[in-house]
Amino acid sequence: MRLMNLGGRAALALAVLAGLSAPPAPAAEAQADPILLIRHDGGARTYSARELLARPDVEEIAIADVGAYPGQEMTFRAVTMARLLEGVPMPRDASVEFLARDGFATSLAPDILANTAPGGAIAYLAVEDPARKWPPLPRREVSPGPFYLVWIHPELSGIGREEWPFMIDRIEVKSSLETLYPAIVPAADVPDGDPIRAGFAAFAKNCLACHTMNGQGPGRVGPDLNVPMSPLDYFAEGVARQFIRDSQSVRANPNTPMGPFGTDILPDAALDGILAYMRHMAGRRAAPDPAPAPRDEIAALVTASLESWETRDRDQFRATAHEDLVFAFPGRRTDLAGALAVFDKWSAEYEDTKVYIRRILVEGDAFAAEYQFATTRKDTGRRSVAGTVALGRVADGKIVLIKEYLDGRVSRGQEAGLMPLDEGAEPFPWPPIDLTEVDFSKVFAPASVAAPKPGP
Ligand code: HEC
Repeated sequence: MRLMNLGGRAALALAVLAGLSAPPAPAAEAQADPILLIRHDGGARTYSARELLARPDVEEIAIADVGAYPGQEMTFRAVTMARLLEGVPMPRDASVEFLARDGFATSLAPDILANTAPGGAIAYLAVEDPARKWPPLPRREVSPGPFYLVWIHPELSGIGREEWPFMIDRIEVKSSLETLYPAIVPAADVPDGDPIRAGFAAFAKNCLACHTMNGQGPGRVGPDLNVPMSPLDYFAEGVARQFIRDSQSVRANPNTPMGPFGTDILPDAALDGILAYMRHMAGRRAAPDPAPAPRDEIAALVTASLESWETRDRDQFRATAHEDLVFAFPGRRTDLAGALAVFDKWSAEYEDTKVYIRRILVEGDAFAAEYQFATTRKDTGRRSVAGTVALGRVADGKIVLIKEYLDGRVSRGQEAGLMPLDEGAEPFPWPPIDLTEVDFSKVFAPASVAAPKPGP
């Protein structure tokens, strides 16, 4: 029975070792089908680009001068955000974060997104057809796909330039900015009408998508604007203002993603407010985090290792692993070099991976991580989402043992279209299905299981 437990990356590793190749993919499925994840309290839903494009409520919309293609008119196939968020539970103080692949993250209020009335802006999620990609972004090799938040009549609701996130791959419903990121909030005793308050709002709208403040905020494109020092501490008087208006007039950096903020986007009063807010925050520098307990360090190490599968960051995977690593999973036991070979092969053949970590328990130098591993095979476009557990041990600050238990019947059943994906949902390992209705003989046909070669 051991060989039956193949799946996800374990199955891949075995297939590689045994010289197997996957059956040729039908041409229509040859391109990957990117996944949009909408995560909310208590669950998540996913849509593939093709699935969205096939919906009856897809519209064709033309927009002149979108941020990604200045001065051009573009046509997009898009679904209203109102329809996409239908039925997604929204707590009363919710904010909706759009997280992009490049670290950009926009936070928006649910009521603005839900509007479909002609008196206000209407939000659409534009979907890139995997077979006909959008043109690349200026000065970058990638397109703004797979998903792009665009607006009809943005002026009616005062939608700002940084509120058009592209390269989106997930949308998360969270609580208010103030609750999520308390260290970005001005002091409670700043009165309501104070420019600092308006400045905070303008900062959240225009800057927070890229910059953190006191280490907090969803965006990861630019530097933090308060720790360890505020730019107002080291920019000469007036230079910070000039930098924000047009950073290229202070220092040349043609590839900077920070566009100039002219008075059309940031009127003088709004920029004054932002500077007042930044000055105020310079006096509210976040205390450095207390030294983490070993337990937290182990949990962080395990998280970094698991997340490297999501980012396909080989160096990160390598950095978390001990020289004497033993890496074992159903079907194989190998060492560090073998683990890196599995990682490389897997990175080349899979994409759109998400690792949903549910919990990491630490006891002494041992850990147990429970997570869901979701990934898409590039050749077939098939997704699998397998719940699993890794047990292991840490030595010298590195992971020296990983024993992973992935039930390959789930991933193979999903790849064969026999089981739902149930991505992001608990409890795993198995999705809720009626076993009497599933014909597993196909998944477990003896011909589909090959004996592995012995490890190195
Ligand atoms: C699209 C992303 C993006 C947005 C939006 C953005 N920035 Fe930036 N910003 C950057 C990046 C990246 C850098 C660092 C590279 C550079 O200087 O261009 C930067 C640099 C800066 C610096 C200089 C920091 C230093 O010490 O060198 C300041 C000050 C700054 N930004 C303020 C702001 C303010 C205020 C806003 C909002 C009005 C804003 N930025 C909006 C990406 C962004």
